[in-house]
Order: sequence, then C-alpha cells, then structure tokens
Amino acid sequence: MKLGIIGTGIIAQEFLSIAHHLEKTEMYALCSTKRSEKEARMLAQEYSINQVFTDYEDVLRSEADTVYLALPNHLHYSYAYRALLAGKNVIVEKPFTPAVEQAMALSRTAREKKLFLFEAVTTLHQPDYRRVKEFLPELGTIRLVQCSYSQYSRRYDRFKQGEILPAFDPACAGGALMDINIYNIHYTAGLFGKPSSIHYFPNIERGIDTSGVLLLDYGSFQCTLTGAKDCSAPCSCAILGDKGYLIQDSPANLCQGIRMVLNDGTQKTVKNHSYGHRMICEFLEFENMIHRGDLNTCYQYLDHSLCVCEIQTEARRMAGIVFPVEVEQVH
Ligand SMILES: NC(=O)c1ccc[n+]([C@@H]2O[C@H](COP(=O)([O-])OP(=O)(O)OC[C@H]3O[C@@H](n4cnc5c(N)ncnc54)[C@H](OP(=O)(O)O)[C@@H]3O)[C@@H](O)[C@H]2O)c1
Repeated sequence: MKLGIIGTGIIAQEFLSIAHHLEKTEMYALCSTKRSEKEARMLAQEYSINQVFTDYEDVLRSEADTVYLALPNHLHYSYAYRALLAGKNVIVEKPFTPAVEQAMALSRTAREKKLFLFEAVTTLHQPDYRRVKEFLPELGTIRLVQCSYSQYSRRYDRFKQGEILPAFDPACAGGALMDINIYNIHYTAGLFGKPSSIHYFPNIERGIDTSGVLLLDYGSFQCTLTGAKDCSAPCSCAILGDKGYLIQDSPANLCQGIRMVLNDGTQKTVKNHSYGHRMICEFLEFENMIHRGDLNTCYQYLDHSLCVCEIQTEARRMAGIVFPVEVEQVH
C-alpha cells in the first residue's frame, strides 16, 4: 500500500518507529497542520517519506491509496468520510468515531465503494488475545468479567490547572471512556458481542469523564470495566467461569501473557512477545488484508467496531456525556 500518514503527534510517531516492519507498504506522505510543518519535515527526513503536506486535500488528490488517521477523536469521522469519498482505504485510530451513527455512515460508504476501513485498535490483533478465545470453553459457564485499565495521565495535571488538551476536551470527543475504557470494551465485545444492557457511572470534572465504571450485562454474566486517567492501579483483565478463571496482568490494549487456572488445579500459561511493539501485529494484518484484497475479513473487524461504537455511544449518552461533534451532519 501507499500510505498517507495524517498527524504528527504521539501515536503517529510511535507508528513511524515500527513502520519498517511493513515490507509491502510505502510511507508515501506525511500530513501535518501548518503549525507542525517543521516537525513533519524532520520526521519525513528521519523516516524517508518523500511528500509532506499541510493540506489534507493534497493527500486525497495524491497517489496514496490508504490514509492512516492519527488525529484527535473529533476529526475521525469527517476525515475518514472525505478519504472514502476520494476512493482511499482508511485506517482510523481508536476510538473509531464519537457517535455510532457516524460509524454506520462510514461503514456503509466503505462497503458501497468496496474500500478497506479499519479501526486501529491493538487489542484484537494481539496473539495472546486469540488464545483467550481458545481457552474460554474450558472455563465452563462464564459468570464475571473484570477489566481494569487505570493510568494516571500527565495531561490530567495540566487539565487540573485549566489547560484542556484533546484527550480531556468534550469538543474533541475526549474522556476516559473514549480514550482508555474503549480497550476494555473491545476486549469484552470481541469475546462476547453486544450486551443486553449497559450502564456507565463516570467521575465527571469540567464536563468530561476523567474515570468511570462501565457495567455490561450479558444476561447470564456481568462485566465490570474500569477506565481511569485521573488515578492509577495495576492493569488486568480477568474472566471468571464456574470451572476456573483466566487472568492477564496487562491492560486490554496489550494482552500480553495469560494464565488459566481451573478448579481441578490445572494451570496453563501463555506468553507471546514475539512481535515486540503492540502496533506491529495490527498493522501487519491491515497490510496483509489490503495486499490480499481480503475485504471480507476487513468487514468482520468493521462489524466489531460498529458493535463497540454502539456500546460506547449508548453508555455515554445514558450518563449525560454528549459531544458537540455528535450533532455534526451524518451522511
Ligand atoms: N492506538 C494507540 O495505542 C493509541 C495511543 C494513543 C492515542 N491513540 C489515538 O490516536 C489519536 C491521536 O492521539 P495522539 O495521542 O497521537 O494525539 P496528539 O499527540 O495530540 O496528536 C494529534 C495530531 O493531530 C494533529 N491535528 C490536530 N488537528 C488537526 C487538523 N485539523 N488537521 C490535521 N492534523 C491535525 C495534531 O497536530 P498539532 O500538533 O499541530 O496540533 C497532532 O499531530 C487519538 O484518536 C487517540 O485516541 C491511539
């Protein structure tokens, strides 16, 4: 693929540091804001990217066949929609879109135009996450799922002093649910699909959730998903069944190393670090799907992203967190 990378922030730079693993991908263009052009030119030199743009339209007119949107959340929908209209495949950073209606519009457009559309969320592509799926039947009847991802954000210090960065800004569709608990939703929905009911209990400061607890009721079992940017604790995911439990002592975006302990004393441990950085396996999968023209698998992932977006949207709206960008026109 000929990739246009949009954004020069933290995640764009993290991606560039692993981009050499993508042998079938040309890093074709880097697009920044005007204020970050100097930084973009330095990155382009460091990573041998030929084209630097400060106008997104120039990327859409260029020979790039795929764009990677490493942008604040409120821009995901409009930038992805414009790219699809221009006939480009789209890889959009998590969380997919602020509102589920926007996600559905993107999905419709991608399918009509037979284009690839991915949400870049590392969870689903981690080798150990696949092993969780394999182990599930051995746990018997599932009773509880507990995912905890609480990571004190340095941006929270600035937030408390009144400097509102995108990750805490309602205007940028920020907050703990969108930024961090979204991984727990991906983890859980990837295993069990959509729950029968959803309740979100946020801690709200300056109109945004800085932490919160999401309860997902699946009828025969309950899930507690905790996500925080205003406090820290060891991260973990645990699945408890009547025949045993499975636990990982890493957050849902990493899913590195799992341990299954059954009531009869059987233990199984899996630790697969063979891919190194968490973004490598997800981007290798995107690259391979595009290379093979495998739209079917892409759309299976897309259906999952729609499910997660539906859960996220419902949870937020029930808790009274509504973003201005949600009332943006949906095509
Ligand atoms: N997958 C992961 O593990 C992971 C981790 C972190 C973040 N993310 C996701 O990645 C996205 C970006 O997060 P981040 O932490 O990288 O944010 P960030 O450091 O604030 O970077 C955002 C980038 O977007 C650019 N930008 C802002 N407005 C723009 C516009 N109108 N047109 C073009 N570019 C614009 C910014 O340029 P300026 O600097 O010039 O404003 C900056 O380069 C978020 O959706 C976040 O949820 C994913």
